[in-house]
Amino acid sequence: MTTAIIGTGRIGSAIARRLASGGEALRLSSADNESARMLAAQIGSAAVVAGDNRDALQSADAVVLALRFTVLNGVIKQITDSLAGKVVVVPSNPLTTDSHGNVSRVLPEGQSSGEVVAGWLPAGARLAMAFGTMSADLFESASNRSPEPAVLFYATDNDQAGEEVERLIRAAGFEPVKVGGIEQSGRLEAGGDLHDLVVGLPEARSLIGGA
Ligand SMILES: NC(=O)c1ccc[n+]([C@@H]2O[C@H](COP(=O)([O-])OP(=O)(O)OC[C@H]3O[C@@H](n4cnc5c(N)ncnc54)[C@H](OP(=O)(O)O)[C@@H]3O)[C@@H](O)[C@H]2O)c1
Repeated sequence: MTTAIIGTGRIGSAIARRLASGGEALRLSSADNESARMLAAQIGSAAVVAGDNRDALQSADAVVLALRFTVLNGVIKQITDSLAGKVVVVPSNPLTTDSHGNVSRVLPEGQSSGEVVAGWLPAGARLAMAFGTMSADLFESASNRSPEPAVLFYATDNDQAGEEVERLIRAAGFEPVKVGGIEQSGRLEAGGDLHDLVVGLPEARSLIGGA
């Protein structure tokens, strides 16, 4: 199966490495494609660099938009006619960083990235919020944990997106657990109770039920 990854910065490159090691074929693109080229060279034959964001989606079963929240809507508009029918996986937290490195929310408390992104996507796109619940370093170090795999939480309103994101989460070396629909996605995002947690299945299930 083939996944497009648009955005090959910190989290996009970590997701790409984990998916490639799980056997996924990748089509990569980034703003100027330099980081995509470096990443493809690191990964090897499982990854190809697309001509541009739209080209990345050619023959891809799903697309991961590993982009900062502030550029997401612009990229969605650019590729919108290629997104109908696609599973769209978004790890973006609603944060921005100023020139001094200070991080702040770009959405009001209580409004999640998932709810806003759902409104930006065209009809027919199948959204799953996933892969943004841990820092890139934690995500890579927690993958393929043994003997008990670590859980990666996700949220979606769409059954097909749920099946596809579960496949990707397993390929990346985690156990998938659905937190609920997109209205629950704030729990996964920065500031949410399920963010930056490395837990196994029993604890994950009790956390979901205990909300
Ligand atoms: N970093 C983490 O640990 C982490 C963890 C969980 C979730 N997240 C979330 O994931 C998102 C990405 O974070 P990040 O830290 O990976 O950001 P990042 O390191 O700044 O990477 C952003 C990527 O977006 C690409 N990009 C920017 N404009 C683009 C465009 N118009 N078309 C295609 N690609 C474009 C950049 O391309 P170039 O490489 O060419 O500049 C870069 O590869 C954020 O919303 C963040 O909240 C991050």
